[in-house]
Amino acid sequence: MSGPLLLALETSCDETAAAVIEGVSRLRGSVVASQADLHAKYGGVVPEVASRNHLAHVRGVVDEVLAQSGGGLGEIDVFAGTTGPGLASALLVGASAAKGFALALDKPFLAVNHIEGHLLSPFFGEETVPECIGLVVSGGHTLLVDIEGAGRYRLLGRTLDDAAGEAFDKVAKLLGLGYPGGPEIEAEARAGAAGRFELPRSMKCSGDDDFSFSGLKTAVRYLLPKTSAADRADLCASFQEAVVEVLASKAVRAAARRGRKLIAVSGGVGLNRRLREVLEAEAAGRGLEVRWAEPWLCTDNAAMVAYAAAQRWRAGVRSSLAEDIFPTLGADLFAKS
Ligand code: KG4
Ligand code: ZN
Repeated sequence: MSGPLLLALETSCDETAAAVIEGVSRLRGSVVASQADLHAKYGGVVPEVASRNHLAHVRGVVDEVLAQSGGGLGEIDVFAGTTGPGLASALLVGASAAKGFALALDKPFLAVNHIEGHLLSPFFGEETVPECIGLVVSGGHTLLVDIEGAGRYRLLGRTLDDAAGEAFDKVAKLLGLGYPGGPEIEAEARAGAAGRFELPRSMKCSGDDDFSFSGLKTAVRYLLPKTSAADRADLCASFQEAVVEVLASKAVRAAARRGRKLIAVSGGVGLNRRLREVLEAEAAGRGLEVRWAEPWLCTDNAAMVAYAAAQRWRAGVRSSLAEDIFPTLGADLFAKS
């Protein structure tokens, strides 16, 4: 064994997920039960539907991940659970299940921040986390973080309104596309002309590291009456370009300002190929490197939570069974400084 066996549960949104990791680098199993189909007909995640499904599936997901890892519950040394940020009623299911296992088996419990899971996912499986700028672009969050190493973060900026993925989802809904909207918009955009519609690059030159995407969404809404279905690909391409340009230029500027040579991208929007092209090109122009979380780690999963938990555990962090959940970002780990 290369370290303790840690089982992590993740239920912050609409994925019921569990993973087992040995030490910090050896993944023994990972299971993600997605509820995306259930929520698709509502065009977004319905919290009560999510929490009821987590409750129904969490035990089965744990059994499956234990079967993959080749051990029983009794061999797990640490039980970790995402305690925030996320949907309160959804977080409660995974966090309570992890605490329940810890209590019943007299093992320690470790609370994990979901965003830290995303943030460290580009380094998944590696012993140490290097200095870099982390760009988290998910359905719920858009953040720029200065990373000194695992557990040592300074929040540089965040979105003041919608997250980047949320903007993709909302614009897709406006355009009559399916949920989640990111992949749908990207697919449409392939046949479109990104220069066709002039859309705002909000806060691109704001001089700070914050973002805003709701004005862009509103700009698309105002264009709708003046366009037809034939313009949809061009609208998608123009919208995608506006989001990608702002993300890439602000990440590169933050890296230059903080003297970091590496940008680490995580979260579902990190799957976007246009973001990859534009950010890689801008970074190369400034002598910076970009690390991308592997595609299977971009959307919500428990492997990234297990990796963040294992790093914390090794650093000596421990949690109390009395630990509460926290639905919003405002926790200690990412307090803006
Ligand atoms: O990281 P994730 O599971 O979300 C949260 O943890 O909140 O990522 C889901 C988000 C959704 O908003 C989805 O539309 C977006 O990632 N997404 C994409 C792409 N694939 C997923 N956005 C843009 N382009 C994509 N290819
Ligand atoms: Zn997430």
